[in-house]
Amino acid sequence: MLPARPLLVAAAVFLLLLPVHVAIVAAQGFRGFSYLLNCGAASPTTDSRGLRWDPDGDYVSAGTPGVVSLSGLINPTLATLRTFPLRYGAKFCYELPVDRNRRYLIRPTFFYGALFASSSAPPPPVFDLIVDGTFWTAVNTTDDALAGAASSYEGVFPASGRNMSFCLGVNPDYTDARPFISALQVIQLDDSVYNATDFPTSAMGLIARTKFGSTGGIERYPNDSFDRYWQPFPDDKHAVSSTQNVTSADFWNLPPPDVFNTAFIAEQDAPLVLQWPPVPLQNDSYYVALYFADTLPDNSRTFDVYINDYLFFKDLNVTSAGLSVFATQWILSGLTTIILKSASPSALPPLINAGEVFGLFPVGRLTYARDVLALESIKKSLQNIPEDWNGDPCMPSGYSWTGVTCDEGSKIRVISLNFSSMSLSGFLSPDIAKLTALTDISLAHNMLSGPIPNLSNLRNLQRLHLQENQLSGSVPETLGTINTLREISGELTEQYRIDIHISARE
Ligand SMILES: *[C@@H]1O[C@H](CO)[C@@H](O)[C@H](O)[C@H]1NC(C)=O
Ligand SMILES: *[C@@H]1O[C@H](CO)[C@@H](O)[C@H](O)[C@H]1NC(C)=O
Ligand SMILES: *[C@@H]1O[C@H](CO)[C@@H](O)[C@H](O)[C@H]1NC(C)=O
Ligand SMILES: *[C@@H]1O[C@H](CO)[C@@H](O)[C@H](O)[C@H]1NC(C)=O
Ligand SMILES: *[C@@H]1O[C@H](CO)[C@@H](O)[C@H](O)[C@H]1NC(C)=O
Ligand SMILES: *[C@@H]1O[C@H](CO)[C@@H](O)[C@H](O)[C@H]1NC(C)=O
Ligand SMILES: *[C@@H]1O[C@H](CO)[C@@H](O)[C@H](O)[C@H]1NC(C)=O
Ligand SMILES: *[C@@H]1O[C@H](CO)[C@@H](O)[C@H](O)[C@H]1NC(C)=O
Ligand SMILES: *[C@@H]1O[C@H](CO)[C@@H](O)[C@H](O)[C@H]1NC(C)=O
Repeated sequence: MLPARPLLVAAAVFLLLLPVHVAIVAAQGFRGFSYLLNCGAASPTTDSRGLRWDPDGDYVSAGTPGVVSLSGLINPTLATLRTFPLRYGAKFCYELPVDRNRRYLIRPTFFYGALFASSSAPPPPVFDLIVDGTFWTAVNTTDDALAGAASSYEGVFPASGRNMSFCLGVNPDYTDARPFISALQVIQLDDSVYNATDFPTSAMGLIARTKFGSTGGIERYPNDSFDRYWQPFPDDKHAVSSTQNVTSADFWNLPPPDVFNTAFIAEQDAPLVLQWPPVPLQNDSYYVALYFADTLPDNSRTFDVYINDYLFFKDLNVTSAGLSVFATQWILSGLTTIILKSASPSALPPLINAGEVFGLFPVGRLTYARDVLALESIKKSLQNIPEDWNGDPCMPSGYSWTGVTCDEGSKIRVISLNFSSMSLSGFLSPDIAKLTALTDISLAHNMLSGPIPNLSNLRNLQRLHLQENQLSGSVPETLGTINTLREISGELTEQYRIDIHISARE
């Protein structure tokens, strides 16, 4: 079963027609394994922030590069894209080497451009995003495309192996044209960032990251060292700005110091009432972090924080040094109201500088590691393999590799390989015998050559179809003692030519 389309989708929009500021930024300062990929590009490009974006070809084997035919694009990474085949139930993956003990911010961007120039054209396709074995979200760029804007999504995921896979999934429930992607950022976060989240089991999808009182542009890299986007949230009644220096190293989440230069501040004697985040949320638990710093030097003010009438934090003492409060599992539903109330009427009015809200979702299970290794070995020994043989071979459910069927028991095991009529050539890796949960193998009608490996370890094998290949060797010999085997068909060449068609041995 394919995962249902979630309601929890956050699309940040960049308008295309911003003035060009060519800032010369020193070589990219991201840490560890971080990637800025300009999908479908043939050569590196530098954006207005001086960030270098590399072509994506080294990390993806599927898909076709394409060009958006729209001149005057300010963001050079939107000019090219990569499109993937419309093959239902297939996922097409980027494979990115990572440090398996770290967590990563992932931000794909989608710009359909002139492919959807008129409202009579069919809308852009809706498709799934998958990270390792985890279904993340469905991508629907229709509204942004109508507004001539790009759509981007942001999530934070733990690495679970040496490579992280980021995939586009063709969902038969709603994908009706080829999925596409314009750009992909994967940025390694410091260990303290969002560290209250239980990363081995949870991932986060951004809903809002806001700099209150800001009328300027999005605050991001180089101000934010992980290129998180702090969206301005203007309000002429409550906005103030200051030049206070905030010691942001005290914050585990490392907000950029400039985020404290603006604030919403309540009027004297009145609470500050804020409807934020600006989108209704489905009833679920969320990560909420709020950031505060007094705008006056060497000053402090004390107030209570309520979220939807529930006391979130009592007697919060905000000083000019700044502080943040967060909850990792706060239940929200519908529209959210944040209320800041001073303890006493004569006190200085409450204020708030910034906030972040993420949806939390479980990290999906992965295929049994030995089965993954065996399949990787089989993949290496074959040529002309399907384009979707990347990412986890079985997961998420509904997105296994073409020809691979799995059982999701206590371990997720590969139980059937049906590679019949896939025009495969090459030889069959002996590691196929390590897929010990296999019940069915069909390799019929391909161009495989070389010996039939020793399959006697496949204790559960029931059906083996090898006919119409150029394999050599003796099937009975390699199968020897498999008691479960009910059906074999094979046509073996030259000196070993034994025609075995459906020989039952119950
Ligand atoms: C890991 O990623 C690199 C770069 O994309 C790729 O060449 C390699 O095959 C990947 N390894 C696995 C096991 O997928
Ligand atoms: C995508 O979004 C558009 C506009 O909001 C909506 O009309 C359409 O139904 C959505 N498509 C899917 C498959 O959810
Ligand atoms: C998060 O990181 C900070 C700074 O490294 C550390 O003091 C704190 O204990 C960590 N919290 C958790 C829950 O790991
Ligand atoms: C980024 O930081 C610089 C230097 O502190 C500041 O002048 C600028 O306004 C900041 N950018 C934003 C969008 O806040
Ligand atoms: C902030 O820090 C800078 C550099 O450390 C210093 O020049 C400036 O005076 C400080 N501003 C305030 C308001 O303390
Ligand atoms: C949200 O869900 C919980 C548990 O499923 C339920 O108890 C609660 O009443 C729901 N809240 C709203 C506002 O629907
Ligand atoms: C708030 O913190 C400041 C600085 O640490 C301190 O001087 C002040 O007494 C505190 N106020 C309250 C109400 O706790
Ligand atoms: C294997 O796949 C082919 C083509 O998709 C299909 O026709 C055939 O029935 C499958 N064989 C088995 C044993 O499932
Ligand atoms: C096949 O492998 C089994 C178990 O590893 C071994 O006992 C047997 O001798 C092998 N058969 C051949 C023909 O190599």
